[in-house]
Amino acid sequence: MQVHKIAVIAGDGVGPEVIAEGVKVLNAVAALDGGFRFEFTHFPWGCQYYLEHGRMMPEDGIQQLSRFDAIFLGAVGYPGVPDHISLWDLLLVIRKSFDQYINLRPVKLLRGAPCPLKDVRREDIDMTFIRENSEGEYAGSGAWLYRDTPYETVIQNGVFSRHGCERVIRYAFELARKEGKTLTSISKGNALNYSMVFWDQIFAEVGKDYPDVETHSYLVDAASMFMVKDPGRFQIVVTSNLFGDILTDLGAAISGGMGLAAGANLNPERKFPSMFEPIHGSAPDIAGRGISNPMATVWSASQMLDFFGHETWGRRLVDILEELMVEGKILTPDMGGTASTSQVGDAVVARLHG
Ligand code: IPM
Ligand code: MN
Repeated sequence: MQVHKIAVIAGDGVGPEVIAEGVKVLNAVAALDGGFRFEFTHFPWGCQYYLEHGRMMPEDGIQQLSRFDAIFLGAVGYPGVPDHISLWDLLLVIRKSFDQYINLRPVKLLRGAPCPLKDVRREDIDMTFIRENSEGEYAGSGAWLYRDTPYETVIQNGVFSRHGCERVIRYAFELARKEGKTLTSISKGNALNYSMVFWDQIFAEVGKDYPDVETHSYLVDAASMFMVKDPGRFQIVVTSNLFGDILTDLGAAISGGMGLAAGANLNPERKFPSMFEPIHGSAPDIAGRGISNPMATVWSASQMLDFFGHETWGRRLVDILEELMVEGKILTPDMGGTASTSQVGDAVVARLHG
Protein backbone atom coordinates (compact mmCIF):
# COMPACT_ATOMS: atom_id res chain seq x y z
CA MET A 1 0.00 0.00 0.00
CA GLN A 2 1.28 3.42 -1.00
CA VAL A 3 1.61 5.80 1.97
CA HIS A 4 1.59 9.58 1.46
CA LYS A 5 3.16 11.31 4.44
CA ILE A 6 1.62 14.73 4.90
CA ALA A 7 2.73 17.50 7.24
CA VAL A 8 -0.32 19.48 8.28
CA ILE A 9 0.10 23.10 9.31
CA ALA A 10 -3.44 24.18 10.01
CA GLY A 11 -2.19 27.61 11.10
CA ASP A 12 -4.26 30.59 12.08
CA GLY A 13 -7.83 31.85 12.02
CA VAL A 14 -10.09 29.67 9.89
CA GLY A 15 -7.10 27.49 8.91
CA PRO A 16 -7.82 24.68 11.41
CA GLU A 17 -11.55 24.59 10.50
CA VAL A 18 -11.02 24.22 6.78
CA ILE A 19 -8.04 21.89 7.08
CA ALA A 20 -10.08 19.50 9.25
CA GLU A 21 -12.46 19.10 6.31
CA GLY A 22 -9.60 18.66 3.85
CA VAL A 23 -8.13 15.87 5.97
CA LYS A 24 -11.57 14.27 6.32
CA VAL A 25 -12.06 14.30 2.56
CA LEU A 26 -8.58 12.96 1.77
CA ASN A 27 -9.03 10.11 4.24
CA ALA A 28 -12.37 9.26 2.66
CA VAL A 29 -10.81 9.17 -0.80
CA ALA A 30 -8.01 6.90 0.36
CA ALA A 31 -10.42 4.52 2.10
CA LEU A 32 -12.53 4.25 -1.04
CA ASP A 33 -9.53 3.73 -3.30
CA GLY A 34 -7.87 1.12 -1.13
CA GLY A 35 -4.54 1.43 -2.93
CA PHE A 36 -3.05 4.23 -0.88
CA ARG A 37 -3.43 5.92 2.46
CA PHE A 38 -2.46 9.19 4.08
CA GLU A 39 -0.40 9.59 7.21
CA PHE A 40 -1.02 13.06 8.65
CA THR A 41 1.33 14.69 11.16
CA HIS A 42 0.08 17.94 12.69
CA PHE A 43 2.36 20.85 13.49
CA PRO A 44 0.93 23.55 15.78
CA TRP A 45 2.85 26.36 14.12
CA GLY A 46 1.59 29.85 13.36
CA CYS A 47 0.78 33.07 15.17
CA GLN A 48 -0.31 31.44 18.45
CA TYR A 49 2.98 29.54 18.47
CA TYR A 50 4.74 32.84 17.81
CA LEU A 51 3.13 34.51 20.80
CA GLU A 52 4.30 31.63 23.01
CA HIS A 53 7.75 30.98 21.53
CA GLY A 54 8.75 34.17 19.75
CA ARG A 55 8.95 32.38 16.40
CA MET A 56 6.48 31.05 13.85
CA MET A 57 8.02 27.58 13.87
CA PRO A 58 10.96 25.92 15.61
CA GLU A 59 14.48 26.60 14.40
CA ASP A 60 14.66 23.19 12.72
CA GLY A 61 11.13 23.52 11.28
CA ILE A 62 12.23 23.26 7.67
CA GLN A 63 14.31 20.20 8.50
CA GLN A 64 11.29 18.58 10.19
CA LEU A 65 9.09 19.26 7.16
CA SER A 66 11.65 17.93 4.70
CA ARG A 67 10.81 14.34 5.68
CA PHE A 68 7.28 14.60 4.28
CA ASP A 69 5.89 14.02 0.81
CA ALA A 70 3.72 17.12 0.95
CA ILE A 71 2.56 19.92 3.22
CA PHE A 72 -1.11 20.79 3.71
CA LEU A 73 -1.37 24.39 4.89
CA GLY A 74 -4.47 26.12 6.23
CA ALA A 75 -3.78 29.83 6.65
CA VAL A 76 -1.17 32.08 8.19
CA GLY A 77 -1.57 35.48 9.80
CA TYR A 78 -3.45 36.95 12.73
CA PRO A 79 -3.86 40.37 14.33
CA GLY A 80 -1.15 40.77 16.96
CA VAL A 81 1.67 39.51 14.76
CA PRO A 82 2.83 41.79 11.95
CA ASP A 83 2.00 40.22 8.57
CA HIS A 84 5.48 40.55 7.17
CA ILE A 85 6.78 38.47 10.09
CA SER A 86 4.13 35.78 10.11
CA LEU A 87 4.28 35.32 6.35
CA TRP A 88 8.02 35.58 5.82
CA ASP A 89 8.81 33.23 8.71
CA LEU A 90 6.38 30.51 7.74
CA LEU A 91 4.65 30.51 4.35
CA LEU A 92 7.33 32.28 2.33
CA VAL A 93 10.25 30.51 3.97
CA ILE A 94 8.66 27.17 3.10
CA ARG A 95 8.08 28.17 -0.53
CA LYS A 96 11.69 29.29 -0.83
CA SER A 97 13.48 26.63 1.21
CA PHE A 98 11.74 23.85 -0.69
CA ASP A 99 12.25 25.54 -4.04
CA GLN A 100 8.52 25.46 -4.75
CA TYR A 101 9.03 27.62 -7.77
CA ILE A 102 5.69 26.84 -9.40
CA ASN A 103 2.54 28.27 -7.92
CA LEU A 104 -0.29 26.64 -9.81
CA ARG A 105 -3.66 28.26 -9.36
CA PRO A 106 -6.81 27.22 -11.20
CA VAL A 107 -9.11 30.06 -12.22
CA LYS A 108 -12.08 28.08 -13.45
CA LEU A 109 -15.72 28.94 -13.19
CA LEU A 110 -17.53 25.85 -11.99
CA ARG A 111 -21.23 25.47 -12.69
CA GLY A 112 -23.26 26.98 -9.90
CA ALA A 113 -20.41 29.15 -8.66
CA PRO A 114 -21.25 32.80 -8.04
CA CYS A 115 -19.85 35.06 -10.75
CA PRO A 116 -20.08 38.86 -10.71
CA LEU A 117 -19.58 39.17 -14.48
CA LYS A 118 -22.60 39.17 -16.70
CA ASP A 119 -23.10 36.98 -19.74
CA VAL A 120 -20.19 34.64 -19.10
CA ARG A 121 -20.46 30.93 -19.59
CA ARG A 122 -18.51 28.30 -17.72
CA GLU A 123 -16.15 27.75 -20.64
CA ASP A 124 -15.31 31.47 -20.79
CA ILE A 125 -13.41 31.29 -17.51
CA ASP A 126 -11.11 28.31 -17.69
CA MET A 127 -7.55 29.33 -16.89
CA THR A 128 -4.55 27.88 -15.14
CA PHE A 129 -2.21 30.44 -13.67
CA ILE A 130 1.44 29.52 -13.33
CA ARG A 131 2.86 32.08 -10.94
CA GLU A 132 6.63 32.28 -10.43
CA ASN A 133 7.01 31.46 -6.76
CA SER A 134 10.66 31.69 -5.75
CA GLU A 135 12.10 35.08 -6.68
CA GLY A 136 11.04 38.17 -8.64
CA GLU A 137 9.41 40.88 -6.56
CA TYR A 138 9.33 38.49 -3.56
CA ALA A 139 13.08 37.85 -3.49
CA GLY A 140 13.42 39.75 -0.22
CA SER A 141 16.35 41.75 -1.51
CA GLY A 142 16.72 45.34 -0.42
CA ALA A 143 17.77 47.70 2.30
CA TRP A 144 16.41 50.14 4.84
CA LEU A 145 18.83 52.99 5.01
CA TYR A 146 19.15 55.99 7.32
CA ARG A 147 16.33 54.62 9.41
CA ASP A 148 14.48 57.17 11.53
CA THR A 149 16.26 60.10 9.94
CA PRO A 150 14.87 62.61 7.46
CA TYR A 151 16.84 60.73 4.77
CA GLU A 152 15.17 57.42 5.47
CA THR A 153 15.21 55.38 2.25
CA VAL A 154 14.05 51.90 1.39
CA ILE A 155 15.05 49.78 -1.57
CA GLN A 156 13.09 46.68 -2.62
CA ASN A 157 14.76 44.89 -5.48
CA GLY A 158 13.14 42.57 -7.98
CA VAL A 159 15.38 39.61 -8.70
CA PHE A 160 14.88 37.86 -12.03
CA SER A 161 17.46 35.20 -12.77
CA ARG A 162 17.78 33.46 -16.12
CA HIS A 163 17.48 30.12 -14.33
CA GLY A 164 14.41 31.28 -12.41
CA CYS A 165 12.59 32.71 -15.41
CA GLU A 166 13.46 29.88 -17.77
CA ARG A 167 12.25 27.10 -15.52
CA VAL A 168 8.83 28.58 -14.78
CA ILE A 169 8.27 29.57 -18.40
CA ARG A 170 9.35 26.12 -19.61
CA TYR A 171 6.98 24.49 -17.12
CA ALA A 172 4.13 26.59 -18.49
CA PHE A 173 4.99 25.70 -22.09
CA GLU A 174 5.08 22.00 -21.20
CA LEU A 175 1.66 22.28 -19.55
CA ALA A 176 0.21 24.17 -22.52
CA ARG A 177 1.56 21.53 -24.90
CA LYS A 178 0.25 18.67 -22.75
CA GLU A 179 -3.22 20.20 -22.49
CA GLY A 180 -3.32 21.52 -26.06
CA LYS A 181 -3.96 25.06 -24.82
CA THR A 182 -2.66 28.53 -25.57
CA LEU A 183 -0.04 30.10 -23.34
CA THR A 184 -0.16 33.76 -22.32
CA SER A 185 2.74 35.57 -20.69
CA ILE A 186 1.86 38.59 -18.55
CA SER A 187 4.58 41.14 -17.87
CA LYS A 188 5.25 44.87 -17.98
CA GLY A 189 8.21 45.48 -20.26
CA ASN A 190 7.16 49.00 -21.19
CA ALA A 191 7.82 50.29 -17.68
CA LEU A 192 10.04 47.73 -15.93
CA ASN A 193 12.91 48.11 -18.32
CA TYR A 194 15.20 45.46 -16.86
CA SER A 195 13.19 42.72 -15.22
CA MET A 196 10.24 42.53 -17.56
CA VAL A 197 12.18 43.13 -20.76
CA PHE A 198 14.32 40.18 -19.65
CA TRP A 199 11.20 38.12 -18.89
CA ASP A 200 9.75 38.85 -22.33
CA GLN A 201 13.04 37.93 -23.98
CA ILE A 202 13.19 34.60 -22.16
CA PHE A 203 9.56 33.89 -23.01
CA ALA A 204 10.42 34.36 -26.69
CA GLU A 205 13.57 32.24 -26.40
CA VAL A 206 11.95 29.30 -24.64
CA GLY A 207 9.02 29.56 -27.04
CA LYS A 208 11.29 28.55 -29.92
CA ASP A 209 11.29 25.03 -28.48
CA TYR A 210 7.49 24.96 -28.62
CA PRO A 211 6.44 26.01 -32.13
CA ASP A 212 3.25 23.99 -31.65
CA VAL A 213 2.06 26.14 -28.72
CA GLU A 214 0.11 29.28 -29.58
CA THR A 215 1.37 32.16 -27.45
CA HIS A 216 0.17 35.61 -26.44
CA SER A 217 1.81 38.38 -24.42
CA TYR A 218 -0.02 41.03 -22.43
CA LEU A 219 1.01 43.92 -20.26
CA VAL A 220 -0.32 43.36 -16.76
CA ASP A 221 -2.62 46.39 -16.78
CA ALA A 222 -4.26 45.34 -20.02
CA ALA A 223 -4.44 41.74 -18.85
CA SER A 224 -6.35 42.73 -15.73
CA MET A 225 -8.82 44.64 -17.85
CA PHE A 226 -9.31 41.71 -20.24
CA MET A 227 -9.71 39.21 -17.40
CA VAL A 228 -12.89 41.09 -16.56
CA LYS A 229 -14.03 42.12 -20.04
CA ASP A 230 -13.08 39.05 -22.04
CA PRO A 231 -11.75 36.26 -19.81
CA GLY A 232 -12.05 33.69 -22.58
CA ARG A 233 -8.78 34.99 -24.02
CA PHE A 234 -6.73 33.28 -21.32
CA GLN A 235 -5.98 29.58 -20.98
CA ILE A 236 -2.57 28.77 -19.50
CA VAL A 237 -1.01 31.91 -18.07
CA VAL A 238 2.57 32.43 -16.86
CA THR A 239 3.59 35.48 -14.90
CA SER A 240 5.86 36.85 -12.20
CA ASN A 241 5.46 36.37 -8.47
CA LEU A 242 3.73 39.67 -7.63
CA PHE A 243 1.66 39.91 -10.79
CA GLY A 244 0.54 36.33 -10.22
CA ASP A 245 -0.41 37.15 -6.65
CA ILE A 246 -2.58 40.06 -7.69
CA LEU A 247 -4.12 38.52 -10.79
CA THR A 248 -5.10 35.30 -9.02
CA ASP A 249 -7.13 37.28 -6.48
CA LEU A 250 -8.83 38.93 -9.42
CA GLY A 251 -9.21 35.45 -10.89
CA ALA A 252 -10.83 34.26 -7.65
CA ALA A 253 -13.24 37.19 -7.75
CA ILE A 254 -14.52 36.24 -11.20
CA SER A 255 -14.65 32.50 -10.57
CA GLY A 256 -16.62 31.94 -7.41
CA GLY A 257 -14.83 34.04 -4.82
CA MET A 258 -12.04 33.40 -2.31
CA GLY A 259 -14.03 30.54 -0.82
CA LEU A 260 -13.07 28.48 -3.85
CA ALA A 261 -9.52 29.67 -4.52
CA ALA A 262 -6.89 26.96 -4.29
CA GLY A 263 -3.18 26.90 -4.91
CA ALA A 264 -0.39 24.37 -5.23
CA ASN A 265 3.21 25.33 -4.49
CA LEU A 266 5.18 22.79 -6.45
CA ASN A 267 8.73 21.61 -6.54
CA PRO A 268 8.31 19.74 -9.82
CA GLU A 269 11.55 17.79 -9.40
CA ARG A 270 10.13 16.37 -6.15
CA LYS A 271 13.44 16.93 -4.43
CA PHE A 272 11.49 18.69 -1.67
CA PRO A 273 7.90 18.47 -0.46
CA SER A 274 5.31 20.51 -2.32
CA MET A 275 2.66 22.48 -0.44
CA PHE A 276 -1.08 22.71 -1.00
CA GLU A 277 -3.21 25.52 0.43
CA PRO A 278 -6.43 27.43 0.10
CA ILE A 279 -5.34 30.97 -0.71
CA HIS A 280 -8.08 32.88 1.12
CA GLY A 281 -6.05 33.62 4.22
CA SER A 282 -7.00 33.29 7.88
CA ALA A 283 -10.18 35.44 7.82
CA PRO A 284 -9.99 36.48 11.51
CA ASP A 285 -13.43 38.13 11.27
CA ILE A 286 -15.20 34.79 10.92
CA ALA A 287 -12.69 32.48 12.63
CA GLY A 288 -14.03 30.07 15.23
CA ARG A 289 -17.65 30.26 14.10
CA GLY A 290 -17.62 27.18 11.92
CA ILE A 291 -18.91 29.04 8.88
CA SER A 292 -15.77 29.28 6.75
CA ASN A 293 -16.01 27.73 3.32
CA PRO A 294 -13.91 24.55 3.06
CA MET A 295 -14.28 24.31 -0.72
CA ALA A 296 -10.94 25.97 -1.52
CA THR A 297 -9.29 23.48 0.81
CA VAL A 298 -11.06 20.58 -0.89
CA TRP A 299 -9.89 21.94 -4.24
CA SER A 300 -6.30 22.14 -2.96
CA ALA A 301 -6.69 18.56 -1.69
CA SER A 302 -7.69 17.70 -5.24
CA GLN A 303 -4.47 19.32 -6.47
CA MET A 304 -2.57 17.17 -3.99
CA LEU A 305 -4.25 14.05 -5.35
CA ASP A 306 -3.28 15.11 -8.89
CA PHE A 307 0.30 15.63 -7.79
CA PHE A 308 0.46 12.11 -6.33
CA GLY A 309 -0.88 10.68 -9.58
CA HIS A 310 -4.45 10.10 -8.40
CA GLU A 311 -5.94 12.37 -11.04
CA THR A 312 -9.24 10.54 -11.29
CA TRP A 313 -9.91 11.29 -7.62
CA GLY A 314 -8.65 14.84 -8.06
CA ARG A 315 -11.17 15.42 -10.82
CA ARG A 316 -13.91 13.76 -8.81
CA LEU A 317 -13.46 16.23 -5.95
CA VAL A 318 -13.79 19.23 -8.25
CA ASP A 319 -16.85 17.63 -9.86
CA ILE A 320 -18.38 17.21 -6.40
CA LEU A 321 -17.80 20.88 -5.57
CA GLU A 322 -19.61 21.69 -8.78
CA GLU A 323 -22.49 19.35 -7.94
CA LEU A 324 -22.89 20.90 -4.50
CA MET A 325 -23.03 24.41 -5.93
CA VAL A 326 -25.49 23.47 -8.65
CA GLU A 327 -27.70 21.80 -6.06
CA GLY A 328 -27.31 24.84 -3.80
CA LYS A 329 -28.52 23.13 -0.63
CA ILE A 330 -25.38 22.62 1.44
CA LEU A 331 -23.33 25.78 1.15
CA THR A 332 -21.67 28.11 3.63
CA PRO A 333 -23.00 31.67 4.15
CA ASP A 334 -20.45 33.28 1.79
CA MET A 335 -22.22 31.36 -0.98
CA GLY A 336 -25.65 32.26 0.23
CA GLY A 337 -26.22 29.06 2.22
CA THR A 338 -26.67 28.25 5.89
CA ALA A 339 -24.48 25.16 6.22
CA SER A 340 -21.48 24.93 8.53
CA THR A 341 -17.92 24.21 7.49
CA SER A 342 -18.14 20.59 8.60
CA GLN A 343 -21.55 20.05 6.97
CA VAL A 344 -20.01 20.99 3.62
CA GLY A 345 -17.10 18.60 4.30
CA ASP A 346 -19.57 15.85 5.21
CA ALA A 347 -21.54 16.52 2.03
CA VAL A 348 -18.38 16.06 -0.05
CA VAL A 349 -17.69 12.74 1.70
CA ALA A 350 -21.29 11.61 1.23
CA ARG A 351 -21.06 12.29 -2.50
CA LEU A 352 -17.79 10.39 -2.71
CA HIS A 353 -19.67 7.38 -1.38
CA GLY A 354 -22.79 8.00 -3.42
C1 IPM B 1 -0.88 34.32 -1.52
C2 IPM B 1 -0.77 35.29 -0.38
C3 IPM B 1 0.69 35.44 -0.01
C4 IPM B 1 1.45 35.92 -1.22
C5 IPM B 1 0.91 36.38 1.17
C6 IPM B 1 0.09 35.97 2.35
C7 IPM B 1 2.37 36.56 1.51
O1 IPM B 1 -1.35 36.50 -0.70
O2 IPM B 1 -0.49 33.15 -1.36
O3 IPM B 1 -1.37 34.71 -2.58
O4 IPM B 1 1.47 37.12 -1.50
O5 IPM B 1 2.04 35.08 -1.89
MN1 MN C 1 -2.35 36.52 -2.62
